[in-house]
Amino acid sequence: MEKYTSVHDVPDVTALLNEALQCKKTPWEWENLGKHKTLGLLFFNPSLRTRMSTQKAASHLGLQIISMNIDKDGWKIETEEGVIMDGDKAEHIKEAAGVISQYCDILGVRSFPGLINKQMDYQDEVLQNFIKYASVPVLSLESAIRHPLQSLADLMTIEEHKQTDRPKVVLTWAPHPKPLPQAVGNSFAEWMNQADVDLVITCPEGYELDSQFTGNATITHNQNEALEGADFVYAKNWSSTASYGQVINTDRSWTISKEKMALTNQGKFMHCLPVRRNMVVTDDVLDSPASLVLEQANNRTYSAQAVLKRLIK
Ligand code: CP
Repeated sequence: MEKYTSVHDVPDVTALLNEALQCKKTPWEWENLGKHKTLGLLFFNPSLRTRMSTQKAASHLGLQIISMNIDKDGWKIETEEGVIMDGDKAEHIKEAAGVISQYCDILGVRSFPGLINKQMDYQDEVLQNFIKYASVPVLSLESAIRHPLQSLADLMTIEEHKQTDRPKVVLTWAPHPKPLPQAVGNSFAEWMNQADVDLVITCPEGYELDSQFTGNATITHNQNEALEGADFVYAKNWSSTASYGQVINTDRSWTISKEKMALTNQGKFMHCLPVRRNMVVTDDVLDSPASLVLEQANNRTYSAQAVLKRLIK
C-alpha cells in the first residue's frame, strides 16, 4: 500500500484482517522488518489509544518512532496555496511535509475537522496535503472524516466475537454534551459495507451520515426497532450533519442502557473510546461481560501493525 486513509486503500480487506489477527498471535515475528527505518507521528489533536497502540505496533516491527504534538510544539501550519503568509501561520505544509519526509520513512497524521464548514472539512485538507507533498507513505491516525485504524480494529473484534456467519451490526448515535466529528461513524459504516454483516444505522433526524459512507446500510430513526436482534451494538456520538457540526439533540433516551441491550440478541457492546459514562452508555452495560471496548482498544495495536507492515518499503 502507498497510503492508508480509508478502506478504499486496501486491495483485499479479508487479507488485511487475517494479517492483523496473525499479528496478534505472533507480534514479534517481523521484529526486523522496520530496522533502520523511522515512523513519524504528527498529532494536531489529542490521543491516548492511537498514539500508544501505533507506537507499540511500530516497536513490534523494529521501527524507530518520532512523535510530535504539532499543534503545541510545532510551527502553525498553512495549508492554503499561494497565500501571503502574513498571519499567525509560520510554516507551509509543502516545506513541513518535504522536511519530515527526509527524517521519516512513514508518516502518520491525526487532524480533526473544524466542524464549522462541512465542505471544507470533507476535503480532508490536512491529510490530503500531507499525501500530496510528502514523498513517503502517509497513514491516517484519524482525519477530519475517517478513522480507518479504529475501523480495522473494530472489524477484528467483530470477527473474533461473532456467533453467526452474518451478524447483525447496529451503529447507533448516542448523546454527548459536545459536538464531535463524524469520522468514527463514517469510517465504521464504510468498513462494515465491505464486511459480511447486516448493517443498520440509527440516529435522530438531522444526524444522518453521508450516503458515500453508509452505502447499503438500513437507516432508521427508531433506535429500539434497530436494536431488535442485534449481535453487536456500536454506540457513537457525532455532531449533526444537517445543522453541520452542532449539537441539535441531547435526548438521553438514546443512551445505551441495560434495557436497550435487552432488545438485542444477547448483543455485544462496542465503542471506540474515550466514552462518557452514563451519557453515551450506562455503567451497567460498560462494566458487563457484554462490553468489548477493551478488546477493541487492544486490537488497535494489531490493526496498526498489519497496516505498518504494508507501508514499510
Ligand atoms: N479511539 C481512539 O482513537 O482513541 P484516541 O483518541 O485516544 O486515540
